[in-house]
Amino acid sequence: MFLLSSVIPAIGGTRILAINNIPSGKEPETAHLMHLNSKIVTLGLLISLIGLGVAATKPPVEDPEKSNLKVLPKKLSDNQMDMIMERISRQLGVTCEYCHVPTKPDVFPKRMDFASDEKTEKLIARRMIRMCIQINRKYFAFKSDREAVLNPKVSCRTCHRGFPRPKF
Ligand code: HEC
Ligand code: HEC
Repeated sequence: MFLLSSVIPAIGGTRILAINNIPSGKEPETAHLMHLNSKIVTLGLLISLIGLGVAATKPPVEDPEKSNLKVLPKKLSDNQMDMIMERISRQLGVTCEYCHVPTKPDVFPKRMDFASDEKTEKLIARRMIRMCIQINRKYFAFKSDREAVLNPKVSCRTCHRGFPRPKF
């Protein structure tokens, strides 16, 4: 939405400039500046429109009501959630599909149904996340689940070391 607000003044700007441009007999230098100004405004408008296009093609964000968090703290930002999920994937040497299923019916481009509990791997992972939170809180003096999740001492890596099934 903030993109829209940047487009509107840009459109307004073009119109005002166009009116300002009507009186002739301006100093050549001012006229030149006006010309440059309207070029900048046009460029700004173009960039905003491209931005709008990009925003429109981006897949919609997760529906927060569909959220199915049972062990991770609910008050994590999208960035923190991404960071945690990417870290888990890296520490197990897998991709998101190892635990998450695509939306159904199949749509193109593929979208994931992150809230679904269909895969056993996700259920096991949930227990493992809970275990890590408990270890960190009990033995490493973390005061909150949030801290234990964001900056853990014992993490999936401690045992998994880049494999979905730990090799000891
Ligand atoms: C090893 C298993 C595993 C992998 C790999 C994994 N996740 Fe997750 N993900 C989970 C679990 C378990 C939960 C639910 C946590 C809970 O219940 O608190 C979850 C929850 C989520 C949620 C929140 C869904 C909701 O209910 O609101 C998102 C979004 C998400 N994962 C994205 C990703 C992305 C993106 C990747 C790949 C970068 C990824 N996950 C990789 C196990 C995994
Ligand atoms: C204390 C060691 C330890 C930690 C820490 C740990 N795991 Fe595990 N995990 C294991 C062991 C051992 C197994 C294999 C269990 C078995 O074979 O029955 C396993 C199995 C799994 C599996 C099932 C793999 C499969 O294909 O069967 C998943 C998924 C998993 N862990 C996710 C995680 C995630 C995510 C984390 C971090 C939040 C984590 N684990 C942290 C020890 C650990």
